[in-house]
Amino acid sequence: MAKIKTSFFCQNCGAQYSKWRGQCTSCKEWNTIVEEIVQTEKHPDWSGKKQKSKALKIADIRAEEELRIETKNTELDRVLGGGVVPGAVILLGGEPGIGKSTLMLQLALKIKGLQTLYISGEESKSQIKMRAERLGGANSNCLILSETSTSVIFKHINSIMPDLLIVDSVQTLHSQNIDSSAGSVSQIKETAAELLRFAKETATPIILIGHITKDGNIAGPKILEHMVDVVLHFEGDRNHIYRILRAQKNRFGSTAELGIFKMENNGLNEVHNPSDILISAKNEALSGTAIAASVEGMRPMLIEVQALVSSAVYGTPQRSATGFDLRRLSMLLAVLEKRCGFRLGAKDVFLNVTGGIKVNDPSIDLCVIASILSSNENIAISDKICFAGEVGLSGEIRPATRIEQRILEAEKLGFNEIFISRYNKVNKGRFAIKIVEFGKIEEVFQVLFN
Ligand code: TYD
Ligand code: MG
Repeated sequence: MAKIKTSFFCQNCGAQYSKWRGQCTSCKEWNTIVEEIVQTEKHPDWSGKKQKSKALKIADIRAEEELRIETKNTELDRVLGGGVVPGAVILLGGEPGIGKSTLMLQLALKIKGLQTLYISGEESKSQIKMRAERLGGANSNCLILSETSTSVIFKHINSIMPDLLIVDSVQTLHSQNIDSSAGSVSQIKETAAELLRFAKETATPIILIGHITKDGNIAGPKILEHMVDVVLHFEGDRNHIYRILRAQKNRFGSTAELGIFKMENNGLNEVHNPSDILISAKNEALSGTAIAASVEGMRPMLIEVQALVSSAVYGTPQRSATGFDLRRLSMLLAVLEKRCGFRLGAKDVFLNVTGGIKVNDPSIDLCVIASILSSNENIAISDKICFAGEVGLSGEIRPATRIEQRILEAEKLGFNEIFISRYNKVNKGRFAIKIVEFGKIEEVFQVLFN
């Protein structure tokens, strides 16, 4: 009997060792090295669509830009940079229950002109059928396969030759070339490599669904993210209906774009006008609320920020932020304290970005400060004013990027005034909305609360 060959793999970065050790020398993590059974690779062979590899001059390579497959889902297309590129391998990660399988099944049901193959290692065919009925889609070009072994999967692929392959999820796949269990580092590496080879040689796009770990990274080796062309992250608060799709890596487009969906009874629906949903309709003006003219990617959206400032009951005041970086909040509070003389050191400060979305745009700072001051003074800010500007460590208001887009969006949504940085060069004559410029936080305070 052949001797079983084993090797040691770091579960964090995928580094391989011949002996066990306590710390991975490559990523410096402790206790991540696990023994796995390995065998020499036998590459699967698919004869059907295989193309011969050949070195070409760059000028002779046909650009396949125009051949992108549109997914018929504008939000997904936007994040992908205008559709799926043939031969691309896309990895979609996200928390359990966030809607990864739903989004992908919807996609498979919606692309009508192409043969799609949806392979699920997590759900049975009848479960998928039930979900498809819920999504209200029927598509004779969408085939479902419930299978985890890559050798069986490739047999089916060979006979079907799909135009788009969806795999739910890469952690459930199992290759016969390696004996370790599904989901282990060496299995994920091997199965992903087999699929990648298939995608590149036959120009078939593949979407892989991936699980994530406790700290939000894609489960398995880091090398998986290096291997694929696009890494998408599906996020959101499960208690809210809104879901955000972001690209963490995209070889064919920008990573700044974001897609917004809402999870409803009939699946995930696209949100085309994010500003409408992110601002709560209210009749009376409440203190502590301010609206930011933000830009995510290329897309302007108005976001409501709520702050609550109250005297701390216990010795150590609490600071909490939802949808905003807590360290950035601490920094802004320190700026208010040190540069502008507001005594917030003994106050609890709670901050909330409504809609359950997470904002990365630094130009929301001015709005955060305005909402904190409004709550602290207990004076409401008019709901016809919005803010766009970054705040620096000396209390200066720094210019926001894409300011004209922000102003136009605020104007479109019926705001009367927008507060921006003095250092933003804006041609005020172009806009109907009143543009008010400030250099320092104190000036904003004077105008709003005096
Ligand atoms: P799912 O796609 O199974 O999540 P994932 O594959 O990321 O683990 O999504 C499951 C959740 O979505 C589940 O909690 C119920 C909800 N859901 C809806 O609200 N409406 C729907 O039409 C569907 C299909 C699911
Ligand atoms: Mg799923």
